[in-house]
Amino acid sequence: MPPILPSNQATAPRREPQFIRVAETRREPLHFFIDGREVAALQGDTLLTAVLMQQRRVRESEFSGAPRAGFCLIGACQDCWMRTEDGRRVRACSTLVTEGMRVLTRVAAVESDAGAADASGDAR
Ligand code: FES
Repeated sequence: MPPILPSNQATAPRREPQFIRVAETRREPLHFFIDGREVAALQGDTLLTAVLMQQRRVRESEFSGAPRAGFCLIGACQDCWMRTEDGRRVRACSTLVTEGMRVLTRVAAVESDAGAADASGDAR
């Protein structure tokens, strides 16, 4: 059976947005970080909206590596869990994005980067 996705699609987040803002464009802007990349959102956006305004996934499945982008958008399906850089799990569809928030879509990649930094003596 062929893999679900080519390996380069399973590891590299696509940068095209899943969502396009068509209303409520006058709310106050804020900035947050996806995998260390600074991006913009608006006050009152859920984390799911804010992330999917930037790219097509919120994370990769820990089981298959397939991209996940939420399903129900109302806090019921558990498909939108994300990790913050300090290790907390947040449900993106029911968490408001905040100024300076730092979230990860590829925990395994970040953990291996941290392991490499630890092995070289670099502080995180
Ligand atoms: S999208 Fe279903 S719980 Fe968040």
